Amino acid sequence: MSAFKELVFSGVQPTGNLHLGNYLGAIKRFVEMQARDAQCLYCVVDMHAITLWQDPAALKGQIREVTAAFLAAGIDPKRSIVFNQSQVPQHAELAWIFNCVARLGWLNRMTQFKDKAGKDRENASVGLYAYPVLMAADILAYRATHVPVGEDQKQHLELTRDIAQKFNNDFSQSIAAHGHDEGAGFFPVTEPLIGGPAARVMSLRDGTKKMSKSDVSDNSRINLTDDADSIAAKVRKAKTDPDALPSEVAGLSGRPEADNLVGIFAALKDVSREDVLRDFGGAQFSAFKGALVELAVETLAPLGAEMKRLVADPAEIDAVLADGAERAEAIAAPTLDAVKDIVGFVRRTRLHAVR
Ligand code: TRP
Repeated sequence: MSAFKELVFSGVQPTGNLHLGNYLGAIKRFVEMQARDAQCLYCVVDMHAITLWQDPAALKGQIREVTAAFLAAGIDPKRSIVFNQSQVPQHAELAWIFNCVARLGWLNRMTQFKDKAGKDRENASVGLYAYPVLMAADILAYRATHVPVGEDQKQHLELTRDIAQKFNNDFSQSIAAHGHDEGAGFFPVTEPLIGGPAARVMSLRDGTKKMSKSDVSDNSRINLTDDADSIAAKVRKAKTDPDALPSEVAGLSGRPEADNLVGIFAALKDVSREDVLRDFGGAQFSAFKGALVELAVETLAPLGAEMKRLVADPAEIDAVLADGAERAEAIAAPTLDAVKDIVGFVRRTRLHAVR
């Protein structure tokens, strides 16, 4: 059905305050994936967002803001499929079936649940616990082959692979009986794509902590909607150590703030840390920060301005999301029809061909 060799899927949660970490670790890489021979789907995962309480008065705005960031960064909504998760019912349907495939023991090992639930585990939502199962459904509803994510999502992708394999295995006879065994079972084993110089962008105030929307200090992060003056001020205030920059990457070890700023520079400029140190090895931070301010302002200020322009016209964004949802559903619906057949459900007859 699809003319592309690969299917790329990724998601971003609309939980407010998008920052440089979201851009370099995810959105910028989504843009780059469009150059591959791939159908790319980029999803605003609103159903994941509500695993932690979200103010209903703010959530719609947050969903539109992530969409605006996608578009402003260069995701082409004609070439790629841009949508929000809750508009495509197949995500929730497949998640339920996967709830019956995944094992409690698997979910008990998820470190993100432990971090997010904190000490009061009894009071965490069932949704927070089942979060990785919904993520597996996001990916496998499209039978995605490639998933660009940050380092922190690696464990969830391994769980996705486990679910795909267990489904293929538990239902192998039924999969074959329904003519869906394409050599490797029904669901593909997804490739995680983790990496790049800024797979992990750290706080500007503490190079050992991840840049985070929930850090109390706004100076710890560059928000995508910050204007040129605040971007410049935050880079100038960023924590450093007293030494000059090393000329080799090995010299960055044990210097988390230096490593972070060099990584940010490299990612913004599409070069490696080696390249950056070839130019700045031996330089003082004052000089390096000057160059980083210029680069960051030149890249991020127009992006923020375009986001603001787009958010001011919700109708345009909502039209993109509606078009994306329709095209996403056209891919996911045949998968779900096949899954229902495989599991043994009697389904409402519909005339979908399976890709
Ligand atoms: N859990 C991801 C994050 O917080 C977001 C996400 C949800 C996702 N579903 C996905 C990422 C599917 C990749 C594929 O970053």
